[in-house]
Amino acid sequence: MTEHAEQRAGHRAAPDPDALKLYSFQVFTKLDGAVTAGMIHLGDKLGLFRALAGADAPLTSDELAAATGLAERWVREWAYNQAAGGIIVAETPDDPADPAPVRFALTPEAVAVLASPDHPAFGMGMFHRLPQTMRTLEEMPESFVTGIGHDYDSHGPEGAVGIERSFEPWSNAFLVPVVLPMLDGVVERLERGATVVDVGCGAGSALLRMAEAFPASTFVGYDISRYALDRANAKLAEKGLANVAFQDPRDDPMPTDGSVDLVTTFDCIHDMTDPQGMVHALRAMLAEDGTWLLVDIKALDTFAQNVAKNPMASLMYGISVLSCMSSALSEPGGAGLGTLGLPPSRAEAMARAAGFTRFRKLDVDHAVNAFYEVRP
Ligand SMILES: C[S@@+](CC[C@H](N)C(=O)[O-])C[C@H]1O[C@@H](n2cnc3c(N)ncnc32)[C@H](O)[C@@H]1O
Repeated sequence: MTEHAEQRAGHRAAPDPDALKLYSFQVFTKLDGAVTAGMIHLGDKLGLFRALAGADAPLTSDELAAATGLAERWVREWAYNQAAGGIIVAETPDDPADPAPVRFALTPEAVAVLASPDHPAFGMGMFHRLPQTMRTLEEMPESFVTGIGHDYDSHGPEGAVGIERSFEPWSNAFLVPVVLPMLDGVVERLERGATVVDVGCGAGSALLRMAEAFPASTFVGYDISRYALDRANAKLAEKGLANVAFQDPRDDPMPTDGSVDLVTTFDCIHDMTDPQGMVHALRAMLAEDGTWLLVDIKALDTFAQNVAKNPMASLMYGISVLSCMSSALSEPGGAGLGTLGLPPSRAEAMARAAGFTRFRKLDVDHAVNAFYEVRP
């Protein structure tokens, strides 16, 4: 019998006391993670991380409260949580029994992840939308019964901002200087003047970045999220670019005439109810010599492979239930691929089924995403 089979066979036996303690600890570390994640959300929202990052020296809770205009007792308890969880650093007196005030600080790495929206490692996006993501737990029992999920707008306007803040730092830093030059002939074409479509554009960060970099080209972003489109249009108005538009494909259908030179999809095909239909639509809009830049979550073919290779697998499967798979099942008959549902084998098969003949993985170093050049 394998170890797992033995464990199963024995699951009606009385628990081993030591294993029980260890297992309970393992379960409660998950609750610790969830609660501490909520506190990270507050640290970002209330400017606590920014205040720590901006300070010249470690701060007491009094000083941190004064810097943020918050109530000291609440700030102190929050800081104790974050320091106990290893998110911020606590400078404690040499004698642990000394009641002198603790001082709090950020390491350089913490400054990047918690307090630097322009750093590619900035990670507050998923924490930004944590309350909205977790609130969907209330809808989940019904979804588990009906099989029907909820689209991105079910996370409200802040859900769209959270997605924007999740993906924007990396794409601001690397999309134009690193990724686009890897695509055969695309930069030259964009410089001359090309037609570009970004499907599932969200709040439009990637498209706006490309539109700024290539003023001779025209850019259209499509999304079905009202909140994301509102946000994209607000940012467009701020930037005042004349070569960009954002549209809902249900009101303004996407082109089907082979007129598009470059189509991009960032982290959205696995969220769609009809991803194969979408890939056919991408093929129909693309010129014969056009390019599809497919960016989607790194995944492997089986659950066992994902668990073995992806240290974030449990996070990914959980987010899938709450967000990605839920979106992909938000209509009856939805494909329901989910967060880890588009491994390269499936992406390539879907592309070939839609008439694409070239599929090349790009050598891009990214913690979560895989990048592909797909061509007719
Ligand atoms: C994870 S978000 C990614 C957004 C954006 N590409 C980014 O990187 O910030 C997925 C997006 O796909 C959009 N989406 C889902 N199904 C869609 C469809 N059929 N057509 C267009 N957009 C869709 C959602 O509304 C959501 O904004």
